[in-house]
Amino acid sequence: MSLCPDRLQASQATPAPGSTPGSASRALAIETLGLRKHFGKLTAVDGLTISVPAGTVAGFIGPNGAGKTTTIRLLLGLIRPDAGSATILGQPLTNALGYLPRVGALIEAPAFYPSLSARTNLDVLARLGGYSSSRVREVLDLVELSDRARDRVGSYSLGMKQRLGVAMALLPDPDLLILDEPANGLDPLGIIATRDLLRRLREQGKTIFLSSHLLGELEQVADWLVMLHQGKALYNGPVRAFLDQHPGASFEERFLSLLKGEQQ
Ligand SMILES: Nc1ncnc2c1ncn2[C@@H]1O[C@H](COP(=O)(O)OP(=O)(O)OP(=O)(O)O)[C@@H](O)[C@H]1O
Ligand SMILES: [Mg+2]
Repeated sequence: MSLCPDRLQASQATPAPGSTPGSASRALAIETLGLRKHFGKLTAVDGLTISVPAGTVAGFIGPNGAGKTTTIRLLLGLIRPDAGSATILGQPLTNALGYLPRVGALIEAPAFYPSLSARTNLDVLARLGGYSSSRVREVLDLVELSDRARDRVGSYSLGMKQRLGVAMALLPDPDLLILDEPANGLDPLGIIATRDLLRRLREQGKTIFLSSHLLGELEQVADWLVMLHQGKALYNGPVRAFLDQHPGASFEERFLSLLKGEQQ
């Protein structure tokens, strides 16, 4: 069974030829068509077709091993698909140079120079990418790390490293921000700060695609949802429609009932 009311949504969201931006039709930041990835005998991503409208916070949910990180690695060109296609910010996956400069990403545990400060870690990246040092200060402020920016990253807590990872992803002021479990290790205040940050970024017109197991948190911030199970989309559409299918059910109950339906 595959519940995908999104195909209608997606076609509505795709600009008709000649339509003007900002009208009822919205461009897609991410679109995949039959994306597939095997690791030996295991099919991690299994003919995945999803669509994420530009300007949304899109939650990417699914149980452990559903294929979320693999999908994100495919979208970022870190691994190649075995079949299918994808378009990111209007560019095909095969033209990574056409979209990667406009994409910021944080995947699982990001790598840093542990003996250098957060500030110097970001300065190194900024120099490589041609970003200004004022941008480094901005992103440190955005993730609320300015106070500890001169400390060695090796001395950071898990949540602080995660914030630094988000700061790195924000460095290019990306149109599309892809975050793989950004709330990993964050304390409640950090989670609230991240929620506010994501909302501010959406207000600036950016698209955020984030995987998370914190369903209650996602419910508060996401307006679009992609739910994955065994490499396939169980749901791809607005959060509102996800909840409206079972009025009165919580986000988590809805998630579990869809999963159960799949396992029967
Ligand atoms: N490099 C790899 N080699 C072999 N198998 C892999 C590799 N990467 C992922 N897999 C397998 O692909 C499947 C999907 O993994 P993936 O990391 O994408 O899941 P996930 O949805 O991100 O899970 P989680 O919620 O635990 O982060 C898993 O069965 C995993 O073991
Ligand atoms: Mg993962």
